[in-house]
Amino acid sequence: MTVHFIGAGPGAADLITVRGRDLMGRCPVCLYAGSLIPRELLAHCPPGAHIVNTAAMDLDAIMAEISAAHARGQDVARLHSGDLSVWSAMGEQLRRLRAAGIDYTVTPGVPSFAAAAATLGAELTLPGLCQSVVLTRTSGRATAMPEGENLAAFAATGAVLAIHLSIHVAEKVQAELLPHYGADCPAAIVWRASWPDETVVRTTVGALAQAVASSMERTALILVGRSLQAEAFAESRLYAADYDRRYRPLGTAPRFPAPEGVALDTARDQPLDRASRP
Ligand SMILES: C[S@@+](CC[C@H](N)C(=O)[O-])C[C@H]1O[C@@H](n2cnc3c(N)ncnc32)[C@H](O)[C@@H]1O
Repeated sequence: MTVHFIGAGPGAADLITVRGRDLMGRCPVCLYAGSLIPRELLAHCPPGAHIVNTAAMDLDAIMAEISAAHARGQDVARLHSGDLSVWSAMGEQLRRLRAAGIDYTVTPGVPSFAAAAATLGAELTLPGLCQSVVLTRTSGRATAMPEGENLAAFAATGAVLAIHLSIHVAEKVQAELLPHYGADCPAAIVWRASWPDETVVRTTVGALAQAVASSMERTALILVGRSLQAEAFAESRLYAADYDRRYRPLGTAPRFPAPEGVALDTARDQPLDRASRP
């Protein structure tokens, strides 16, 4: 018996991975984390599956469901929103499973910051502008931020910030970011990225707090950074015509010459088939 932790993606039912969907189809038990999992996803459970919304349960009750499935020898699909590596509460469940000697697997999902960037049509890391993305949050009722992990410290680097779980304190976020990014720095709020009612507001750090509509509760990301609305950035060297690279060796003495006797097919980025070699 195995518990399969599955990142269910940001909201759109078709943004689960093929592996996650197929695992769901094989598990007679499905535990899903409440409000952020689209109900359409549960259609991937096999007929007659035992499906439990864990939103109102505590950790002991969740573990009791898993132990009962273990006793019956039934695999469990455990769904959490987005990806499991951030703010999923998977860590504490895995620790309990290890202690109980219950097997598990982890299947990643599309994180909400990636869904929000897709909605904005934005590459967050642009040459010469931003090369780091910080996934962070502010202190909440349940979780305090460790010392040193604060918005001002991250903002001092100039990285793009993807600020989770903080839409209700947008004023505070704005005040902390303003001295570092300046009032004109692009910002965006993406509420329920990839859901049918997704809402996007493009704004600036100076106008961030007033851009938050009262309808935008909880499931929103604040993105801040120079790459969000930039047209003036360098092109990546990777595709530059004069850039000597492993799959496109240039000149008479390329840095990565093809192995002797191997001709490169630059269109396909791989050595030519044996048959088509000169
Ligand atoms: C408990 S965390 C879950 C994060 C999730 N594991 C992930 O990979 O994105 C919930 C927070 O993630 C953000 N979030 C999750 N889904 C979102 C979505 N579809 N659109 C915008 N923000 C989302 C919001 O900031 C929300 O408060």
